[in-house]
This record gives sequence, C-alpha cells and structure tokens, in this order.
Amino acid sequence: VANFLNSSSELIAFTSGATDSLNMVATMWGLENLADGDEVMLCNEDHASSVLPWYNVQELLSRRGVNIKIIPFAVHSTGTYDRKSFRAGLGPKTRIVCLSHIHHLYGMEMDIAELKTLVPEQVFVSLDASQSVSHIKVDAEALAVDFISFSAHKMFGCNGTGVLWSSPRAVAQMWPTRVGAKTTLSSGSGRFNVARDKLSQLVECGTLNLPGILSLKAAIEFIESNGIERMSDYISGLTIYLLEKLKSVEGIEFAPGIGVCDCTKGFGIISFRINGFDSADIGAYLDSEEIFVKTGDQCLGSGKTDDDLIRISLQIYNTAQEVDRFLEVLNEAISS
Ligand SMILES: Cc1ncc(COP(=O)(O)O)c(C=O)c1O
Repeated sequence: VANFLNSSSELIAFTSGATDSLNMVATMWGLENLADGDEVMLCNEDHASSVLPWYNVQELLSRRGVNIKIIPFAVHSTGTYDRKSFRAGLGPKTRIVCLSHIHHLYGMEMDIAELKTLVPEQVFVSLDASQSVSHIKVDAEALAVDFISFSAHKMFGCNGTGVLWSSPRAVAQMWPTRVGAKTTLSSGSGRFNVARDKLSQLVECGTLNLPGILSLKAAIEFIESNGIERMSDYISGLTIYLLEKLKSVEGIEFAPGIGVCDCTKGFGIISFRINGFDSADIGAYLDSEEIFVKTGDQCLGSGKTDDDLIRISLQIYNTAQEVDRFLEVLNEAISS
C-alpha cells in the first residue's frame, strides 16, 4: 500500500473501508483539534460517507459546549467544484477542507493541486479517493493533502477493508477513538498515553481483517500489472464512446459531468435522467437484462433523493460491445 501511494508505511493504516476512514478523520482528528468557532468546509453533494461524519462531530462537540460551523461549497453545473463558492467559504477560522478526488455521481476529477493553491498552508485537507483509486494515480506525495481515504472493494479487492493515509503533521495531532490489543502505549506521563509516530498504532487494534488486507495486496498487484495509465486511458475511451451513444437517446438529460462539460477525459461515470420516465423503472428493465446501474438514492451528503438519476459506472472489465448492448436495452425500455 505504501509503494502504491508513493508514501511510507508509518503513514498508513488499515480500516474497514472508506466510510470507516472518513469517520476516523472526523473523530480522531476533528474531535481532538476543533475549537469553538472553528470551521469545516465540505460539499453537501459529495458522498454521504465523506460529509455526515462532520455533522456528527459538530453534534458531539456541541454537546460539550464547543460550537463549530460547517461551511458548504457548491458543485458547478459542469460537475467540478464551483471555485467562486469554494473561495467564498474559506476564512480565518477554516481548519479543514474536505474534497472528493473523483465525484461518485458526476464522475469528474477535481483539480486538487489548483484547489490547494487557494487553501492556506495551515488548513488541513481531507481527500476521499474512493472513486479515483482504481482510475487514476493516487500519489500521496504529489497530492500533498493531510488525509486520503479509500475502500479495497472499489479497486477489485474484498468488501470490509479500507485504507487511511495521514500526513506526518496529521498523525501527530490524532487521538484514537478505539483502543485494545496492539494499541501501542507510551509511558512517561503517568497517564494513559499512546504513541503517535505511526498511524497504524493509533488506528489498528484487535485482530485485523487479514483476508481483506490480502485481497487488497492482490488488487494492487492487479492494478500495477495492468498499469494505472493504461486503465485510465481505456476507461476514458469507453466513457466517451458511451457518451456519444447516449447523446442520441430521446429525452435524455445529463446530470453535471462529462455529459454537459466539454471535457475530453472520462472516468467511467455518467449520470442522466430520461424525461417522462421513472429511473427506477428503467433500472428494473435493465436489471432484467442483467445490466446493473444505480438508480434511486445516490448517497449524496445532502440526503437529497429526489433527483431520479440513472448512474452508469464503467471499469476495465466493460467493453464497447457491452455499451452497445446497454444502449439497445435502454432504447427498448424507453419504447416499450
Ligand atoms: C466517493 C465515495 N466515498 C465513500 C464511499 C463509501 O465507501 P464504503 O461504502 O466502501 O465505505 C463511497 C462508496 O460508494 C464513495 O463512492
């Protein structure tokens, strides 16, 4: 994992998945470091697992008399973060900014390097890499953020395993929320104290999910043997192929993302609705032909479920023939 992220093992811990990792960022760092009046910036259109842990921390802190603010920023109609609202949200009280690397519903890569130029050095940055880790290179050194979270099962591994990466300055400021066997205690102060020089000492306790971790190893070897750039190019080509075909579907209305922006690179995700049709009905029709798409709750942090979008998500195991078949069945569903 350390080599895969271009980092060192001291900064990595195994978790039960991205949701677990993102909750750890909020509780292990947030509860420990946020003070009255501090601000957390996030986008409510990001995944619920990236957003809700901060509302929970806000609630937990308020019960102790510490009131933090959550400052939301928006997604632009093209599918990347709206720079204007991002800039407007930053202020002297901002302590952490939470970002997605590739958006789970709009499928756009956020320009982390450019966003980081707007964020002052002392402000922490948490990155949800769940959708990017098997699509583009996730290089902890180059990204230069403070936290990176992802799940093994979104990169061909098993369910129930994930990774949290933290920068050295973040590790030094985190406090465990779970302890037990394997927790490394540090002596000296006469009080309960944990060693804070390795992330795994703070996060991992009890028996780890070894089969899941071994599946992650195999998944990394699989990605490295294919080459992430090659995978990325293949998925991009297939996304654009799908997009061009979708454009001719009667009544299609694209959600933010590659369907509405003039981008030349795709990341496998296209979301849309078909005017006059319930997405769940179209989903059920596709399902009956063994074509699996996501409809209904799209796991937005805002909890918004009324958008009625159909989300397609492609990986390297999908082919142009499958895209053709999908279009055939989609047109059948619409005309039946
Ligand atoms: C962007 C993003 N973040 C977080 C998660 C949560 O991942 P998990 O359910 O593996 O914890 C997902 C899952 O769909 C996701 O797409």
